[in-house]
Amino acid sequence: MDKLNIVGGGQLNGVIPISGAKNAALPLMCLALLTDDKLILDGWPDLADTQSMRELLASLNVESTMQDDALHMQINGQIGIEASYDIVRKMRASILVLGPLLARMGAARVSLPGGCAIGTRPVDLHIMVMEKLGATITLEDGYVLAEAKQGLIGNRITFPMVSVGATENALMAAVLAKGQTILEHAAKEPEITDLAECLIAMGAHITGHGTDTIIIDGVDRLGGTDHRVVPDRIEAGTFAIAAALTGGEVTLQHARPEHLSALTTLLIQSGASVTAGDDHMIVAGHGRPKPVDVTTAPYPDFPTDLQAQFMALMVMADGVSHVDETIFENRFMHVPELMRMGANISVSGGSATIQGVDGLIGAPVMATDLRASVSLVLGGLVASGTTTVQRIYHLDRGYYRLEEKLNACGANITRVRE
Ligand code: EPZ
Repeated sequence: MDKLNIVGGGQLNGVIPISGAKNAALPLMCLALLTDDKLILDGWPDLADTQSMRELLASLNVESTMQDDALHMQINGQIGIEASYDIVRKMRASILVLGPLLARMGAARVSLPGGCAIGTRPVDLHIMVMEKLGATITLEDGYVLAEAKQGLIGNRITFPMVSVGATENALMAAVLAKGQTILEHAAKEPEITDLAECLIAMGAHITGHGTDTIIIDGVDRLGGTDHRVVPDRIEAGTFAIAAALTGGEVTLQHARPEHLSALTTLLIQSGASVTAGDDHMIVAGHGRPKPVDVTTAPYPDFPTDLQAQFMALMVMADGVSHVDETIFENRFMHVPELMRMGANISVSGGSATIQGVDGLIGAPVMATDLRASVSLVLGGLVASGTTTVQRIYHLDRGYYRLEEKLNACGANITRVRE
C-alpha cells in the first residue's frame, strides 16, 4: 500500500486548481441511466471513487470514455438492474443507482452498502423515498429488491432528517414519476443544486433546488446534455485550511466562494484572510491561529467533510477550541493519529476539546478514512521532521493528485509506492 512522506516546515504559496466535486460527480454519473442519449460531464474528477462508479455503471451497460477532462457516457444495450455486492462494497454511494433504475426500469437489485469507518451509514431514508413513490421494497441476502411495475407515482415526501444521498435518490427517481413530487426538509448542498441543474438541462421539471422544499413534475423521457461538474468545495476548503495553517498565501482557482461561507467566517475568526473573486478565492495565514469553536451541520452551515481538516488547524491555535461533530457518529479517528504528532485533544462523545500546542512532531501515522487522512497530511505540513501517512488509498478516493498540487506550492511530499 502506498504511503506519503511529508517533510514539514514550509509555507504554501501559489495557485491550486480545484477539480470537479467528487460528491457531485457520483450522482451526476447515475443520470446516464435516465436517458438513451449521450451524457457528457466536463471537469469530471478522475478519482478512485468515480472510477468505481464507472465500473458499476459499466456492469449495468453504461459505456463511458474519458476525453480530455470530460467523461462521455451512454447506455449501450439493455440496462442491467443489479448492482452487485463486490462493487457496492468498494463505494457506498453506489446506492445512488437505486432511484434511476426504478425510474427507468421499474426494478432494481442493489446490494446494501454496509457501513464504513465513520459510521453505520444506514439507507433507510433511501428506502422510505422509494416506497413513498410507490415501489415495493424487500431486503434479501443483503440486497435491496425494489419493484415498481406500473412506474413510480409522485408524492409528498418529508425527510425526518437532512440526507444528501436520499435527497439525490429522490430527485433521480421523481423526474420520471407520474405527477408531482414535493420533497420537504430536503438537503440544500451545492451538489444537490448541481444535480438538479443537470436534470433540468436533460428536460426535467424541477424548482426549489437549493432550498429545503424541492418540487418535481414528472416527465415521460429525458435527453442527454453536456454539463460541467461543480468545483469541489471540500477540496477547496481543505487547501484553504492548509494555507491558513502554513502561513502562506494560496489562490484556489475555480473555487466558488459562496459554497464556503461557513468555513470562510471561521478562518477569518482564526486570524486568516480570505479574498473572494467570482471563480476563485485567495486565502492567507498570518502566524499562529486563534482558537475557534466549530459545530458541523447540513449546508449552509459548517460541513462535516471539513471537520477533521479544521481540527488540524485548531491543533496549532494559541488557546482552547471545541469541535462538535453532529452528522456522523464516529468521525474523530484522526484524533489519536494527530495526538501521535503531539496534538493535545480530548474527546467525549461527539465533542472534542483541543488545547492548542505551539508545534507538532513528525511521526508515522495511519489513514483511516478519506477526510481523516487529509487532516494528517495537513498536520505533516507544519510538523517538525518527517511525517509518514500510511494507507493513503483512502486519500486517493477523494483527492486528485493531492501531493502534486501541494508540492507546486512549496510542500515537500513524496509518494512511496509499496
Ligand atoms: C454525503 O453522504 C457525502 N457523500 C458525504 O461525504 C458527506 O459527509 C455527507 O453527505 C454529509 O454531508 C457523498 O455525497 C457521496 P447523508 P451521505 O445521507 O449522503 C444519516 C466524503 O467524505 N442517514 O447526508 O451518505 C447518516 O447516517 C463523504 O466525501 C440515515 O440515518 O450522507 C448521517 O448520520 C463522507 N439514513 C446523516 O443521515 C439514511 O438513509 C447524514 O447522512 C441516510 C442517511
